Amino acid sequence: MKDLVLKLKENHFLNDEEFKRLIEDEREETLGFLNKTASSVSKSVYDNKIYIRGLIEFTNYCKNDCYYCGIRKSNSNAERYRLNLEQILDCCETGYNLGFRTFVLQGGEDGFFTDEKMVEIIKAIKRNYPDCALTLSIGERGYDSYKAFFDAGADRYLLRHETADCEHYSRLHPNNLSLQNRMDCLYNLKEIGFQVGCGFMVGSPYQTTDSLIKDLKFIKELNPHMVGIGPFVPHNATPFKGFEQGSLNLTLKLLSIIRLMLPNVLLPATTALGTIDATGREKGILAGANVVMPNLSPRDVRKKYLLYDNKICTGDEAAECVLSLKSRMNSIGYEVVTSRGDYKNYNKE
Ligand code: 5AD
Repeated sequence: MKDLVLKLKENHFLNDEEFKRLIEDEREETLGFLNKTASSVSKSVYDNKIYIRGLIEFTNYCKNDCYYCGIRKSNSNAERYRLNLEQILDCCETGYNLGFRTFVLQGGEDGFFTDEKMVEIIKAIKRNYPDCALTLSIGERGYDSYKAFFDAGADRYLLRHETADCEHYSRLHPNNLSLQNRMDCLYNLKEIGFQVGCGFMVGSPYQTTDSLIKDLKFIKELNPHMVGIGPFVPHNATPFKGFEQGSLNLTLKLLSIIRLMLPNVLLPATTALGTIDATGREKGILAGANVVMPNLSPRDVRKKYLLYDNKICTGDEAAECVLSLKSRMNSIGYEVVTSRGDYKNYNKE
C-alpha cells in the first residue's frame, strides 16, 4: 500500500480503483504511513506552524432542515439566539487580545441577517481590525450577495458541500436543497475572489466509498483553499439520531489524502474530531491538518450552538484556553502562530 501513498504524494491524485483500495484498507500501518507522509508534506509547505481561527457562532436560527444538524428548523428544543453587532465586536476584541488574527462568522441560514446587515457587520469588523482576516460561513446566498460581502471586505468563505454524490445529498437534505445549487455557490465564491473552503462529514448516514471518491474528485476539481472535514456525530433531536458516529481512523485517513491531493490547502483539525476523541485534534495535526478553530462565542451561547451531541464547549477548544492549546501543540512538535494564516501562494489580485 506504500506505493499507492507515494503515488498520491507524487501525482496528487489516484484513479477510482486506487482510491477505493486506499480508503478500504483498514491496516494500522497503512494509516500510519499515510499520516506520516501527509504531515511531512504539510510541514514542507507550512513548517510546523498551526494557524488559529476564532469562531464566532453568531446565530443558531436556520431556515433549513438538514437531517443531520442539531440547529435544523424543525428542532423545537433548540434554544435560539442571535448576537448583535456589539456582541460580535466584543468577541473580536477578546479574540484579538488572545492573539487571533482571523475571525470566522458562522451561523445558520438566518433571514434576519440580510445582506445589508451582513455588510454592516463585515465593514465594522474590518474597520476595527484591519490586520485581521474575516471568514464567513453563513450558507447559500446569490452571487450578488456574495459579491457585496467580498466588496465589504470579507476575505474567505466556508461552505461545506456535505457530499458530492447527488443521490447521497438527497438523503441528507430535504428536496428544496440541491447539490447543484451548493456547487454553484462554491464556484461563484471562487470567481468573486474569496479564499474558499468546501468539505464534508465523514461517516454520515448512507455514505459509501463511492460517494467519498466523488468527494475527493470534486475537491480536486474545485481546488479550494480550505477543506473542512470532521466525523458525523448524531444529534438526539434529528432524524439521524439513531445512526453511528463517523470513525476516527477514516477521518484521519481522509485528512491525509486531502493533504496529499492539495499540498497547500488550509486543513482544520475540527471540533467534531476533538469531540469524538480526547486528543482528536492532535491526531488531526499529525495526519496533515494545520489549522484549529477555537470557539470565541460568548460562554452563555456556546451550549446553544449544538450541531451534534456532546460538542466540546467548555474545555480546551474554548478560546480562553489558547494557552493550553499552545502547549498541546508544542507537545507534538508544532507551534501555534499569531498571523492571518493565508493560503500559501495565494494572491488576492
Ligand atoms: N455531525 C457532524 N458535523 C455536523 N455538521 C452539521 N451537523 C453535524 C453533525 N451532526 C457540520 C456540517 C456543516 C458544519 C457547519 O457542521 O458539515 O456544514
